[in-house]
Amino acid sequence: MQFTTVLIASFAALAMAIPTKDSSDKATPTKLPEPEFSILPIETPKDAPLIDLWQDEDFLGFKFTGFSTAGTCENLHGTGFNNNVSSGKSRPGFRCTVWNKKDCFGPAFSFNEQGIDDLPSWIDNKASSWKCVKN
Ligand SMILES: *[C@@H]1O[C@H](CO)[C@@H](O)[C@H](O)[C@H]1NC(C)=O
Repeated sequence: MQFTTVLIASFAALAMAIPTKDSSDKATPTKLPEPEFSILPIETPKDAPLIDLWQDEDFLGFKFTGFSTAGTCENLHGTGFNNNVSSGKSRPGFRCTVWNKKDCFGPAFSFNEQGIDDLPSWIDNKASSWKCVKN
C-alpha cells in the first residue's frame, strides 16, 4: 500500500519535471528520413557458391556445392566428399583448385568452369581442401 503511494508520487513528480513542448513545434511538419534501401543490394554476399564437386567422374553421382569467399581455403569435411571427389567445376567467373591435403597443402589441381571430368589418379578420390579465385 505504502509502496504504491510512493510510486504514484514519484511518477507525478517526473511528469511535472518533463518540460512541455511549445505549441509552435507542432506547426512544423517533421520530414521522415528517406529509407536507405541502396545499402543492402550493393553488398556482395560473403559466402557464394564457388565450386561444384562430384563423387563420380563425368560430373555424376552426389554433388557438393562449396560456398565461400574467393581466395579462402576450405576443407572438405566428413566422409561423403573428403577423399571422394572425381570431377569438378568452378562457378562462372572463378578458377578453383583442389589439394590432396587439408588446408590447401600438397599436390594441387586447378580447373575453370569447363571443369575436369576425371581428376588425374594422383588426386582422384584424394582431394581434401579447395580454394577458388576470381578469373
Ligand atoms: C564415395 O563415392 C562413391 C562414388 O564414387 C560412392 O558410391 C560412395 O558412397 C562415397 N562414399 C561415401 C562415404 O559417401
